Amino acid sequence: MTKENQQIVLAKRPEGMPTHENFTYEDVEIKSPQKGEVVVRSLYISVDPYMRGRMSDQKSYTQPFPLNETINGTVVGEVVESEDNHFSVGDKVTGFLGWRYYNTVPASQVRQIDGEQAPLSAYLGVLGMTGLTAYFGLLDIGEPKDGETVVVSGAAGAVGMIVGQIAKLKGADVVGIAGSDEKVNYITEELGFDAGINYKTVDDIQEALSGLCPNGVDVYFDNVGGEISDAVLNLLNSFARIPLCGAISSYNRTDGDLGPRVQTKLLKSRAKLQAFIVGDYADRFGEGVQDLAKWLSEGNLKYEETITDGFENIPDAFFGLFQGKNLGKQLVKIADPKY
Ligand SMILES: NC(=O)c1ccc[n+]([C@@H]2O[C@H](COP(=O)([O-])OP(=O)(O)OC[C@H]3O[C@@H](n4cnc5c(N)ncnc54)[C@H](OP(=O)(O)O)[C@@H]3O)[C@@H](O)[C@H]2O)c1
Repeated sequence: MTKENQQIVLAKRPEGMPTHENFTYEDVEIKSPQKGEVVVRSLYISVDPYMRGRMSDQKSYTQPFPLNETINGTVVGEVVESEDNHFSVGDKVTGFLGWRYYNTVPASQVRQIDGEQAPLSAYLGVLGMTGLTAYFGLLDIGEPKDGETVVVSGAAGAVGMIVGQIAKLKGADVVGIAGSDEKVNYITEELGFDAGINYKTVDDIQEALSGLCPNGVDVYFDNVGGEISDAVLNLLNSFARIPLCGAISSYNRTDGDLGPRVQTKLLKSRAKLQAFIVGDYADRFGEGVQDLAKWLSEGNLKYEETITDGFENIPDAFFGLFQGKNLGKQLVKIADPKY
């Protein structure tokens, strides 16, 4: 079977901010499915900040992307051929697939999703990896309590905007940190955060935050690291909790990203700082999706997506994450469903 297919491969490892030079587009065939395999036509492809880490050849919690191979990430698609009893043509699925129009994979690599329960794109965001990251990081590590103050950085992004809303559901006061006035307005006016600051325009992040957190900070959900987190760590209450989710401010840095040392701050506040990877919670994903879907259906949880059109624009959508171009989950729409 030969139909038009294309893939994007990692041609060169980025140094600093990735550019188009790091990627090449290759024409490839659609592999015919063997027994137990399905062919999935991509509808939405997710681009995520963690992928930057996998583009480098450094020790991490997961292997680097191999050079000259297609980049893998989460994809929502539809089955267009099936050699597996569990899947039929037209089924909507999600899985960890290549940046390709069509992926031929073992059926065990994808799971069926229900387009009636939520829009298909939601399975890459609020009901997918980023929603689950917010859910487990905040509730398991942050443990917000009624009346406490929760600060979240990257607050208008895919993870951050869900973190703030779950914290509100748990009765906390929530302050978000984001990179534009539009984003701050969105999280306060649309999502019900109590306050927000634009870290790009305030003179002194710590001073601005301390004015908004008169009772100190009990939970800091850290999506960004760097100077923003340095400022928040100075405002911690005793026994504060810090789910360390990400450090996007350093992903493209080529220097050592030196900052103040944290040990004394943590000791004085007796805070708990715990880094986590959403995959650590894989055996509890069902529980997370159930709660997130319930809050969505009750109207207690909202989400936003920034959808870039076209397979050829995947790298640009990815670069945009590091320039703050997205509000909510950044996705790339590849095609409309056929079935
Ligand atoms: N631990 C895990 O399992 C896990 C899972 C998913 C994501 N993460 C991490 O969580 C964080 C958020 O991920 P996401 O998928 O929700 O992405 P996102 O927040 O939707 O998108 C990235 C956002 O980061 C902000 N940003 C970019 N450069 C920045 C900088 N130098 N300083 C401060 N903010 C910057 C931008 O917003 P502004 O306009 O506000 O700057 C941008 O919109 C990332 O660090 C990611 O690696 C971790």
